[in-house]
Amino acid sequence: MTTPPSSPHRQILSISPFALASLLLIGATRLILENSKQGRFSLLQFPPDEILPLEIEEQSSWASNFSGGGSVAVPDDCNVFDGKWVYDNTSYPLYTDESCPYLSPQVTCQKNGRPDSLYQNWVWKPSECELPRFDALKLLEILRNKRLMFIGDSIHRSQHQSMVCLVQSVIPDGKKSVHRKPSMKIFRAEEFNVSIEFYWAPFLVESISDHAKKHSVQERLVKLDSIAKHSRHWEGADVLVFNSYVWWMYKPIINATNGTDSDMQEYNVTTAYRLALRTWANWLETSIDGRKQRVFFMSSSPTHLWNWEWKAGGLGNCFNESDPIQGPYWGTGSSHEIMGILHDILQELKVEVTFLNITQLSEFRKDGHTSVYTERKGNLLTSEERADPNTYADCIHWCLPGIPDTWNQILYAHLLADYGFLQMSI
Ligand SMILES: *[C@@H]1O[C@H](CO)[C@@H](O)[C@H](O)[C@H]1NC(C)=O
Ligand SMILES: *[C@@H]1O[C@H](CO)[C@@H](O)[C@H](O)[C@H]1NC(C)=O
Ligand SMILES: *[C@@H]1O[C@H](CO)[C@@H](O)[C@H](O)[C@H]1NC(C)=O
Ligand SMILES: *[C@@H]1O[C@H](CO)[C@@H](O)[C@H](O)[C@H]1NC(C)=O
Ligand SMILES: *[C@@H]1O[C@H](CO)[C@@H](O)[C@H](O)[C@H]1NC(C)=O
Ligand SMILES: *[C@@H]1O[C@H](CO)[C@@H](O)[C@H](O)[C@H]1NC(C)=O
Ligand SMILES: *[C@@H]1O[C@H](CO)[C@@H](O)[C@H](O)[C@H]1NC(C)=O
Repeated sequence: MTTPPSSPHRQILSISPFALASLLLIGATRLILENSKQGRFSLLQFPPDEILPLEIEEQSSWASNFSGGGSVAVPDDCNVFDGKWVYDNTSYPLYTDESCPYLSPQVTCQKNGRPDSLYQNWVWKPSECELPRFDALKLLEILRNKRLMFIGDSIHRSQHQSMVCLVQSVIPDGKKSVHRKPSMKIFRAEEFNVSIEFYWAPFLVESISDHAKKHSVQERLVKLDSIAKHSRHWEGADVLVFNSYVWWMYKPIINATNGTDSDMQEYNVTTAYRLALRTWANWLETSIDGRKQRVFFMSSSPTHLWNWEWKAGGLGNCFNESDPIQGPYWGTGSSHEIMGILHDILQELKVEVTFLNITQLSEFRKDGHTSVYTERKGNLLTSEERADPNTYADCIHWCLPGIPDTWNQILYAHLLADYGFLQMSI
């Protein structure tokens, strides 16, 4: 395995991290985020309404299985984001794209014909502690009478799908459902009165990309000071998990308003991102009750658009990558500058927000993307398109089962640690 030309590379990054990252991102982001424009339903859209029947499990077994304790929470001082990927084909993956009916065709790589499957067998092992094994019944018990809501873009939507797949197998047929209302997709586990929801808001603040179906990354106009149209739907959720990154990165400048709509101007994305997050932070401070609600923010999901970054002389992208990167690696798609802004804003906040710093661990997983085993404009890629991965491979989104399952295992570890806290709020 060749590591990227890391020192010159990092030097460039420190001169103009953002410009470089976003320029590099343009090609593939354009292609992938673009598809939404004419597609019937495509990469950045919801799949059609689903209310799906599922296989029956014996009621008695699922209801009595919950032990009420057992899994050990991660110690406070353990940095779970520092560690390595370990191969384990006996206990992973935790579900398959055949066993979970709630996955959109965008992410079902095996069903879509991906020939290799080892990418499903890597488990994240923190250096200093163990992540608890995911226990769906325990999570449902923690979330009883609660709403867990994921808010963000299409990558976040797949994290929502991952979470639904991780819990759904323990719920019997007829006791679970998925439905959609504009901008939202809601999974319900009736017996537990739990909802696991996704809310589409790729910039968090309001923008012209807020329509769940009609949006284009090329036409971006963000209202940096406005969030109310979205946030009223977030009120009352017990656990909120936010992300917002890739839509900002299409170009280093972005059209935005800060105040009246007639005052549209171009902003540096870093400036705009900071202003947008301040608006979000103000909402949190006036609306979140830290005793009852829990807030998380996911760091940026990395992209693997240029294989020269990990393979000297490479001219391709994530296509045909079947192993994780070993050893130090940080690609150009992950902006330290955006991460720094996020860090500043979270530090200033009076409300506690847990930063789930998944960028580095996901950076290693050049093998985890949907690549050409995905759909475009509502159809699986054609064989002609598959034969041209440099144009058509999606190196932004991830296969499921896959990397977002790990993000959810880390989220689960945090919720487990908070169990007592969540109980008190009932
Ligand atoms: C798991 O991996 C080992 C070693 O690579 C291999 O021998 C074994 O057949 C694999 N088992 C399954 C179930 O894929
Ligand atoms: C069901 O959960 C919702 C929150 O999602 C809560 O407002 C409601 O009170 C719960 N219902 C019961 C019967 O506990
Ligand atoms: C901002 O909008 C103007 C007018 O619609 C357009 O000409 C310009 O290219 C846009 N800038 C960006 C960065 O999209
Ligand atoms: C944006 O608007 C806020 C008030 O809503 C103001 O405090 C801030 O200075 C403005 N920033 C810029 C760069 O226009
Ligand atoms: C925008 O970014 C450019 C290049 O990074 C920088 O030279 C300029 O000062 C920035 N402008 C503002 C208003 O931050
Ligand atoms: C994929 O990579 C392997 C080497 O790892 C190579 O032998 C094979 O030809 C590649 N497949 C394609 C379609 O490029
Ligand atoms: C996130 O993790 C990366 C690498 O593990 C680290 O460099 C960075 O400082 C962390 N960011 C924050 C805001 O903690």
